[in-house]
Amino acid sequence: MNTVYYKEVTDGAIAACGALIRKGELVAFPTETVYGLGADACNTDAVMRIYEAKGRESDNPLIVHFASPEEIATYAEIPDRALFDTLSRAFMPGPLTLVLPRKGALSPRVSAGLSTVAVRVPSHPVARALIAAARTPIAAPSANRSHRPSPTSSAHVLEDLDGRIAAVLEGGTCRHGVESTVLSLCGELRLLRPGAVTREMIEAATGRDVIVDEGVLSHVADKKQVASPGMKYRHYAPNAPMTALFGTDERVRAAFCEAQRTGAAILCYDEDLPYLSGDTPVLSLGAKNDFDAQAERLFSALRELDRLGVTRIYARLPGEEGLGMAVKNRLIRAAEFDLIEV
Ligand code: TXA
Ligand code: MG
Repeated sequence: MNTVYYKEVTDGAIAACGALIRKGELVAFPTETVYGLGADACNTDAVMRIYEAKGRESDNPLIVHFASPEEIATYAEIPDRALFDTLSRAFMPGPLTLVLPRKGALSPRVSAGLSTVAVRVPSHPVARALIAAARTPIAAPSANRSHRPSPTSSAHVLEDLDGRIAAVLEGGTCRHGVESTVLSLCGELRLLRPGAVTREMIEAATGRDVIVDEGVLSHVADKKQVASPGMKYRHYAPNAPMTALFGTDERVRAAFCEAQRTGAAILCYDEDLPYLSGDTPVLSLGAKNDFDAQAERLFSALRELDRLGVTRIYARLPGEEGLGMAVKNRLIRAAEFDLIEV
C-alpha cells in the first residue's frame, strides 16, 4: 500500500482523510499526547485493520476519540454523572481517557472482548478536525508498531508504518510526549495509566482519592489480574536491553560510569552529565525535576538509542510526583521491570 503523507494540513487534506476513515481505511494523525492510528470505531473491519497494521495483540483494547464529552454518552454508560461532568469540565478536551461501561454502536473489537470502553476527547486541532470530517468516533491506539516506543512525530509514524496504512497527517511534535492518562470510572476511581493529567490534578478537581493500579509502577505476576490489558505486554522498549537505576545522585552516577566501562549507553538527566566521562552514547531527558521536558523527550530518546545501534542501556528513574509518575511508568516498562537500587 502506498501511504500518502499530508505534509500540509489543508482543508482538502482533512476532507480526504475524513473520507478515508469513512471508507474503513487507516489514517495516522497528531494528538497532544502522541500520534494515533485512526479507524472508524463503528466499523469492525476497519478496527481489525488497526490490529493488523500494528501487529497488536487481539486482547488489547483501543481508545475511542470523540469530538466532545457530550457525544460520549451515546456510546458509553455514565455511572456517576456528577463525577463525569467534573472531569470533563476540568480536563476535556485534553489528555484524559475514561474507562466506562460500553453501549451502542461501537464495534465490539474496540473493547477487545471487555464490557467497557476507553474514551477521550483530544485537544489537538488536527485531531479535532479529522474527527469532525469523519463524522464518526475514531478508534486510535498510538501509531507505532506494537512494542516500539510511541511516536511523537510524523517521522516516527513513517518509520514504523509507511506502506501499511492509507495516510499520515502532519501535526508537528506532540506537546506532552506521553500517552493520555487512563482512569477507570467503573467502581472506585482507579488510575490505569499515568499521563499528563496527573493523579494530583484529578484528586484536586474531584475531591476524591485516586487508587493507583498495582500494574502502574510494579510488575504484576498474575497477568490475568491486570486492570488494563496493555499493561501485560512488553512496551515502549528500545531494541537494546535496558536497566533502570534508582538511588542517590552519587551512587547512580558511579553506577553509570561503571556501566560505561562495559560499553553501555546512558539515559540520564542534565545534572548527571558533568559526571559521565566514558565515551559511550549519553542522552539526557532534561533537568532532573523538569518532568514536562522528560515526558516530551522520552520516546524520541528511546528511538534515538535504537538509531545509534547501542546494545545495552542504563537509565535513571525520575520521581513520582506529577508527570514524573508517567515518565517513571514508561521507563520501568521500557526496562521490562529490570530495576536496580544502587
Ligand atoms: O494518548 C493516547 O491515549 C494515545 C492517543 C493516540 O490518543 N492513544 C494510546 O492508545 O495511547 P494505546 O492503544 O497505545 O493505549 C491504550 C491503553 C492500553 O494500555 C489499553 O490496554 C488501555 O488503554 N485500554 C483501552 N481500553 C481499555 C478498557 N476498556 N479497559 C482498560 N484499559 C483499556
Ligand atoms: Mg500504545
